[in-house]
Amino acid sequence: MSNVKFYSEIKSLQQQLQQLAAGYSATFILCDEHTEEHCLPLMRDALPDAFIIRVRSGEQYKNLGSCDIIWFALTHHHADRRALLINLGGGVICDMGGFAASCYKRGIDFIHVPTTLLAMADASIGGKTGIDFDHYKNQIGLFRPAAAVLICPAFLTTLDQRQLRSGLAEVIKHYLIADAAAFRRVEQNEKLSYDLALIARAVQIKSQFAEADPDEQHIRKALNYGHTIGHAIESHRLRTDVPLLHGEAIAMGMAVEALIAQHMDLLAEADADRVLAVLHRLFDLPVLSMEEIAAIVTLSAQDKKNTGATRRMALIDAIGSYVTDVAVGEEQIREACIWYNNGIS
Ligand SMILES: NC(=O)c1ccc[n+]([C@@H]2O[C@H](COP(=O)([O-])OP(=O)(O)OC[C@H]3O[C@@H](n4cnc5c(N)ncnc54)[C@H](O)[C@@H]3O)[C@@H](O)[C@H]2O)c1
Ligand SMILES: [Zn+2]
Repeated sequence: MSNVKFYSEIKSLQQQLQQLAAGYSATFILCDEHTEEHCLPLMRDALPDAFIIRVRSGEQYKNLGSCDIIWFALTHHHADRRALLINLGGGVICDMGGFAASCYKRGIDFIHVPTTLLAMADASIGGKTGIDFDHYKNQIGLFRPAAAVLICPAFLTTLDQRQLRSGLAEVIKHYLIADAAAFRRVEQNEKLSYDLALIARAVQIKSQFAEADPDEQHIRKALNYGHTIGHAIESHRLRTDVPLLHGEAIAMGMAVEALIAQHMDLLAEADADRVLAVLHRLFDLPVLSMEEIAAIVTLSAQDKKNTGATRRMALIDAIGSYVTDVAVGEEQIREACIWYNNGIS
């Protein structure tokens, strides 16, 4: 958490960036076409000499081809080992920029300036970097901490509502595994504001879990709540013409997994009801077709956290508390999907 700093206004973030960049031989800013248009103008004046590297936006460009562009630009502008890369963007830019910087000349420093809620509350925190490869997400990558993570909610004003809600799912997940009071604030606030208070608590929780267990041997697994089912839904939808954003799938995953926990007698019915009420209020949870339920059962068997054929899930056993490595059978998943559907009026 020591490398994460929060700014309520862009001016202070600019000053901090200027100060940090002064210690390097050259500064490069990585962005995509959206962050170049909407976010770069907010900080360009602070770093007039920085070189801009632009890659195309979207998960499909989180790949070696984009790294090629980054490495080519660094090489072409004679970046040495004292050069700095600033990753200005969402989770794709942070993950990929962190990876490209970590490999260039065996590693140059990078700073994340996350510009989506998801990147602020999740992707920029915890030191995981990487790219997709051969249709596998985050197949190539490494752990390397950012020299700094500078978070300012002012960037969120240009982000569309759908992307904001996708990030909100991860914020709620962090609250659900670790902070009952923060979850209650979400329950009680009819209209949420995506402000520093909301983000900072999520960041604190993510950092706490990631720092205590960097290699995901024990407690970091809790961050996967909602993700066994959520990833299965996300993968299935990717093959259809109605793909979901990551957070949208995770919101559905958290709902189904709350029902799994309830029906395993891990989670009290009253708590499961509260989780579902918030998820229904904030997300447009869609009904799962029978074909989709079958796909979820199959795809969840391929989750990285499984041991052998047994599905191992991180679940909540109360609001603000988690259990990891819970063995869950196919029938329990199928039934929970049906209960999930029954809850959609
Ligand atoms: N490293 C980790 O621990 C970790 C954790 C969670 C997710 N991730 C990764 O994060 C990625 C998803 O991140 P994401 O949801 O931020 O998606 P993203 O980076 O693709 O950004 C979403 C879209 O918003 C645009 N955008 C970004 N900031 C904007 C702004 N301020 N205004 C207008 N448009 C803006 C982007 O150009 C893009 O089109 C995935 O690749 C996922 O694997 C990593
Ligand atoms: Zn996630």
